Amino acid sequence: MKGYWISFEGGEGSGKTTLIELLREALIKQGQDVVVTREPGGVRIAEQIREIILRLDNTEMDAITEALLFAASRRQHLVEKVLPALDQGKVVLMDRYVDSSIAYQGYARELGMDEIRQLNDFAIQGALPDITFWIDLDPAIGLSRIATSGRKVNRLDKEAKRFHERVREGYRRISQTTDRLVAIDGDQLPEKIVEQIMKRIEIK
Ligand code: TYD
Repeated sequence: MKGYWISFEGGEGSGKTTLIELLREALIKQGQDVVVTREPGGVRIAEQIREIILRLDNTEMDAITEALLFAASRRQHLVEKVLPALDQGKVVLMDRYVDSSIAYQGYARELGMDEIRQLNDFAIQGALPDITFWIDLDPAIGLSRIATSGRKVNRLDKEAKRFHERVREGYRRISQTTDRLVAIDGDQLPEKIVEQIMKRIEIK
């Protein structure tokens, strides 16, 4: 892989989308060829899977089914979009990747972090970002941002407050096991956060 791969993680309303847009602009100014993409989705088949996962009326969805669907969507997106872009030497900015599954399905939904890691190892076959920024924010602040932003509420936003606190704890635990995940305080101006991110990335 010749390119540079950055993923963003965090709870609901942590500001990933805004940060990715600002970072994209900053990198383009530096002359980089940047691709922005998101999970679950990013390509046609993966977007179709995303719709099934996030539909508000799919209330009977089993937790393991959900984990498998996320992994399936991830696989398709990876081979169809991410790996080809990296091969072409592009900088890929990705809104969520495998750590989302480990935090949401593995820890918050209690399927087991190791189990979800193993399931995803099969899907990603060792393909991991160069660096991952975990935008850490109190879920109460994140959820209140969503309530006032006008963004469409999805099935996972509707989980109880405790669930979102568990998502945060899940990320905290992942950050203790790998240097790839860099924690960033999400309760700062987006411009300040992007400055910190720019200092951490090492695009050759
Ligand atoms: P989305 O509308 O993309 O929200 P966000 O802007 O917060 O990323 O919805 C994605 C939802 O899916 C979000 O609640 C996180 C959740 N999710 C998982 O539970 N597991 C995963 O593996 C991924 C990629 C997302």
